[in-house]
Amino acid sequence: MKQKLVVLSGAGISAESGLKTFRDSDGLWEGYHVEDVATLAAWQANMRLVQNFYNLRRKNVLEAEPNNAHFLLKQLEEKYEVQIITQNVDNLHERVGSSSILHLHGLITQAKSTYDDSLIYEIKGEEILMGDRCEFGSQLRPNIVWFGEAVPNIELATKLVEEADIMLVIGTSLQVYPAAGLVQYFDTRKQLYVIDPKKVPFSRTQNIHFIEAKATDGMIELMKLL
Ligand code: OAD
Repeated sequence: MKQKLVVLSGAGISAESGLKTFRDSDGLWEGYHVEDVATLAAWQANMRLVQNFYNLRRKNVLEAEPNNAHFLLKQLEEKYEVQIITQNVDNLHERVGSSSILHLHGLITQAKSTYDDSLIYEIKGEEILMGDRCEFGSQLRPNIVWFGEAVPNIELATKLVEEADIMLVIGTSLQVYPAAGLVQYFDTRKQLYVIDPKKVPFSRTQNIHFIEAKATDGMIELMKLL
């Protein structure tokens, strides 16, 4: 049986695909206030603005290509049972064919009903338009978990982390909870790897190996270690 390798990925893994991270100096939030575009209150106050913001983000995602870090994670499936937990709303893990991907913060290529949030639709093309409705007639919104909203997949993610033999954290500043709290559930007797060009602060000191590099170089390094 293959060992279980659980991956927690963040915006940094898609940076070399040309998608901006959130908290780096040229990050996405720099030009926007989170409270203006990424909360339920923002949506209620100005649906058109929020819709347009995510329509643009979606266009960027569809124009981007997966990078070698995404590909190497797929390649690791030859040796490990790889379970990806991603905070990213892009579909770059999907586009390299990774088998097992759990999105914590939603998926930008999907729309969600504002009447019943179990109704999820694949978006055809780049945009959700104002006036696009679910089968019950309510406006569609992006399938994104906004600040202040529950993270429906967090329990499943916690279980996957607890059951894993090896963990990799790649391209996340670990500033957003509950996602950031997942690492606490990974047994300190087991090996944790972290790939990030910046030093990400961890309270854990046991069995942690930092690879201070960009995602693509870091993944090449990791493949040598595993
Ligand atoms: P952040 O922008 O907070 O962190 C990105 C991390 O990627 C930082 O630690 C960078 O040092 C690192 N990084 C930058 N370039 C990199 C590269 N080429 N290779 C590897 N790492 C690199 O992004 P997240 O931690 O993903 O939520 O942010 C978490 C959540 O905050 C997001 O999912 C998003 C946002 O609000 C939603 O969209 C709901």
